[in-house]
Amino acid sequence: MSLIQVQGVTKTFHSLSEEVTPIRDLDLVVGKGEFVVLMGPSGSGKTTLLHLLAGIDRPTSGRVLVAGEDVSAMNASQLARWRTRAVGYVFQQYNLIPVLTAFENVEVPLLLLRLSRREREAKVATALAAVGLSDRVHHLPRQLSGGQQQRVAIARAIVADPVVVFADEPTGNLDRTAAALTMQLLRRLVDEFGKTLVMVTHDPVAAQAADRVVHLDKGQIVDEVLDA
Ligand SMILES: Nc1ncnc2c1ncn2[C@@H]1O[C@H](COP(=O)(O)OP(=O)(O)O)[C@@H](O)[C@H]1O
Ligand SMILES: [Mg+2]
Repeated sequence: MSLIQVQGVTKTFHSLSEEVTPIRDLDLVVGKGEFVVLMGPSGSGKTTLLHLLAGIDRPTSGRVLVAGEDVSAMNASQLARWRTRAVGYVFQQYNLIPVLTAFENVEVPLLLLRLSRREREAKVATALAAVGLSDRVHHLPRQLSGGQQQRVAIARAIVADPVVVFADEPTGNLDRTAAALTMQLLRRLVDEFGKTLVMVTHDPVAAQAADRVVHLDKGQIVDEVLDA
């Protein structure tokens, strides 16, 4: 069953003097519970594509359907609500709020939902336990290693129980050991928690964890490598 359908999507950015089209007439289907890796040279449109899939940005033409909802047709406030409910996003630079503890960072997405304090606390505790950080709940980001900060960011991405998680070079800032741990964790999101995961990476080792690798070049899919 497909969870994500990208149909003839083009994205053009207009600036004062020029036009850039990082995604050009792209089609892609991602199955429910699938772990897909996007690879490609710098500037090939990987981040732009993730933004379109996650409803952070809207296509210039074409459609993006996620779990039957037409993300490309939503207005800004519909998109914001949909993202809170349906999407988790993990960044290369973790993007944690420096003055908030691990607990408070993970709690942020829940503040947009109608939950009691008790329900929020239970969900945050579950998410931090899932990433193995139950003993770092009250630490600030600067008191955590890069790998631990990325695990807090993953907890934040899953705390609202989204159907799909996007990760943009999540191991790009990590050493080998922390990267391997992060990849194990992301793989578990798919295997144990049934999440669908789309991840951009440059790291061939990280890509091995995926079910399927999609190669992007100049805004188009150039080939697909099926894992045996
Ligand atoms: N908001 C934007 N405005 C203008 N150009 C952009 C914007 N976002 C991305 N681009 C351009 O689109 C191209 C693809 O960028 P990106 O998707 O970030 O590539 P990748 O993640 O594969 O390195 C680049 O040429 C980049 O400069
Ligand atoms: Mg990028």
